[in-house]
Amino acid sequence: MKDIILTGDRPTGRLHLGHYVGSLKRRIELQNKGGYDKFYIMIADSQALTDNFGNVQKVRDNVMEVILDYLAVGLDPQKVTFFIQSEVSELTEFTFYYMNLVTLSRLERNPTVKEELKQKDFNNSIPMGFLTYPVSQAADITAFNANIVPVGDDQLPMIEQTREIVRSFNNLYGETLIEPKAVLPDNENSYRLVGTDGKAKMSKSLNNCIYLSDEPEEIKQKVFSMYTDPDHIHVSDPGKVEGNTVFTYLDVFSRPEHFEKYLPEYKSLDELKVHYSRGGLGDMKIKKFLNEILQELITPIREKRKEFAKNPAAIMKILYDGTMEARKVAHKNLIKLKTSMGINYFN
Ligand code: TRP
Repeated sequence: MKDIILTGDRPTGRLHLGHYVGSLKRRIELQNKGGYDKFYIMIADSQALTDNFGNVQKVRDNVMEVILDYLAVGLDPQKVTFFIQSEVSELTEFTFYYMNLVTLSRLERNPTVKEELKQKDFNNSIPMGFLTYPVSQAADITAFNANIVPVGDDQLPMIEQTREIVRSFNNLYGETLIEPKAVLPDNENSYRLVGTDGKAKMSKSLNNCIYLSDEPEEIKQKVFSMYTDPDHIHVSDPGKVEGNTVFTYLDVFSRPEHFEKYLPEYKSLDELKVHYSRGGLGDMKIKKFLNEILQELITPIREKRKEFAKNPAAIMKILYDGTMEARKVAHKNLIKLKTSMGINYFN
């Protein structure tokens, strides 16, 4: 059987470098490698509503921002089916049946949900929709028979939960669903790219992001105010590489040709690290280097994005066509699901 790949993002903001290394890069590789049967990328607006129910307009506006980011990084509607989650109503039906296969305490134990609940401020009034979004995520994946889900590591608990639901379903109603597998980025620093402030995760709410649509000045300003080593005061001081955001980013983004081009006095990142640790290498120099690398990465993305943004109707057509296709597939698989369950009264 050929692979069916599915992944997606909540449209709550423009995509940033954390998305790029954590997931988009892998998607582009998979797309270009080809050989799969289908590749779906879903804009998870219904899921975004589970913690933005009072702010539908924000979610709605960001559907466009996210699809622009997808196209700008090189995801190709000829090879990938893009669709909008809320427009495939079959997904809610899948979710409803899966709810019976999951306990409340299991949902409360989901580490990603737990982490998010801590950040949110729902106090003791957790909306059911939010708590159960992992179940709807199982629906997203299984409604398309996806076996490969390229995601960042914060999504692993969702895939695990999906696998459990699949096993329960198949045990109860017979082999119907496929257990999906997560595919993570290959560089461990990319699993969860730290923010420019050195905090755990690049995240819009923490205001520590470099966006794929940032202008050159914004990128520069963000790189130059990055968290480094607070004890590295004079250039001659020995510096710490570990926990130094600039070096974490260099680990993720720098390649040998960047040294040749922008910093020929060093052959490799290791050499640069040794010098920094010994002392005598200033933050300015490493920040300048990182800025060059990020400008080189983001410039073509930003330019392409601006081109696509000139024609919103064409973008909506891509989403419309993809959504119609997704509906058909989800519908077919829903009939299959209900047949397995024995709730197919009229056929
Ligand atoms: N939870 C994902 C996020 O936070 C979005 C998402 C929804 C998703 N459904 C999915 C990802 C199915 C992969 C597969 O961005």
